[in-house]
Amino acid sequence: MNTAHSLAPSQVSNKARVLLPGARLGLLGGGQLGRMTALAARAMGYRIWTLDPQPDCPCAQVADHQLQASFADDAAARELARACDVVAYEFENVDLRLAQTIEQHGYLPQGSHLLAVTQQRLREKHAVAAAGVPVTAFRAVRTRRDLAAALAELGLPCVLKTTRGGYDGKGQWLLRSTADAARVPDAVFHGDAAVEPAGESDTALEAPLVAEAFVPFVAEVSVVVARTAQGDVVSFPPAENVHQDGILRFSIVPARLPQEVLRRAQKAAERVAVALDAVGLLAVEMFVTADGRVWFNELAPRPHNSGHYTQDACSTSQFEQFVRALCGLRLASPRLLSPVVMANILGEHLPAVMRHLPAWPGDAKLHLYGKAEAKPGRKMGHVNVLAPRLEEALELLRTLQVWGPLDLPAPRLSS
Ligand SMILES: Nc1ncnc2c1ncn2[C@@H]1O[C@H](COP(=O)(O)OP(=O)(O)OP(=O)(O)O)[C@@H](O)[C@H]1O
Ligand SMILES: [Mg+2]
Repeated sequence: MNTAHSLAPSQVSNKARVLLPGARLGLLGGGQLGRMTALAARAMGYRIWTLDPQPDCPCAQVADHQLQASFADDAAARELARACDVVAYEFENVDLRLAQTIEQHGYLPQGSHLLAVTQQRLREKHAVAAAGVPVTAFRAVRTRRDLAAALAELGLPCVLKTTRGGYDGKGQWLLRSTADAARVPDAVFHGDAAVEPAGESDTALEAPLVAEAFVPFVAEVSVVVARTAQGDVVSFPPAENVHQDGILRFSIVPARLPQEVLRRAQKAAERVAVALDAVGLLAVEMFVTADGRVWFNELAPRPHNSGHYTQDACSTSQFEQFVRALCGLRLASPRLLSPVVMANILGEHLPAVMRHLPAWPGDAKLHLYGKAEAKPGRKMGHVNVLAPRLEEALELLRTLQVWGPLDLPAPRLSS
């Protein structure tokens, strides 16, 4: 399943550098993805700085140094760029100008272009469609009139999303009727819910909203692809993802889908990573419809929640692979060593986790992010449950007594 190939030199950017352990990695963003990247990098002997406005953020707790500054603080970005041998962003809603500053004053192998594409859904969809991967029908929406026209063309139901700044299903409206459309608040049409665009402005692609056809999927899958600046590509086995209320709850690996479908998903993800000249990690979320077809949903230019299973179930985690890709080390094999179910621990789950944790078996691997406040829906940690067979892992997850009775039926394709 895992593939590795090189590109012709003409397609490879000339930004490749090799950074050996001892070098300093700067992380733009200090959330849990930064924290777990830092932990992997530390294990390999790298030093870590992080830039994040929140004191004692998850990454700062395991980093050598935190620059406590806003994601729009240009002077702090320059300091990070100068102080670090290599800088990476760990979320895509940082100000694009900051990434550009870092690119000018330091080494940002992921590049600001990848960020510009992935922080705006319209650009992202155009780029993926251009790479030859099927994308659900969509329309840019600037006004209520645009929305009415989009609904007429796309049909109902339909999903309206802010083009910028969304995560965990925030900034999205499932529209089942024109009455639902009328309830969308005025402010979103003015882009008030979004992050300000910066640079690389293509007015044809600038709009506060995008309407997309609802995909009647039977499964959601994602593939985390690693790519070096030299053009080497390695992808992890696809995860089968279960969302509730727009938030990822569980990732199941191996995904319970035909090999052919998984191969298609993996190929599509690798094709997108190459077409976008992505460096570092690119997570590609996709829908699978009953006919076995794979449709693009969205991208993340960084480690991804659905790739957390790799920490305990693969020979190399997505975080180590991220560090390898950023530092110009050879990409490692992403071999799956065990069936696994990853379950997210949200704020509302934390009391039950703490209550039952002392009795959890060792095959339930706990990861907590060091966040002080456990708000409902907030990602506080996750657990990777391992077992020789997937059914056993699902059964073991039930015995942890955190997520309720857990009904996770296998996806059914029409044969
Ligand atoms: N067009 C669609 N058809 C059907 N379901 C959808 C569609 N778009 C989104 N969803 C559902 O909502 C979930 C969240 O959507 P999406 O991935 O676009 O949002 P997000 O807020 O950027 O999420 P995150 O960044 O946390 O992955 C999807 O995983 C899927 O379950
Ligand atoms: Mg998503």
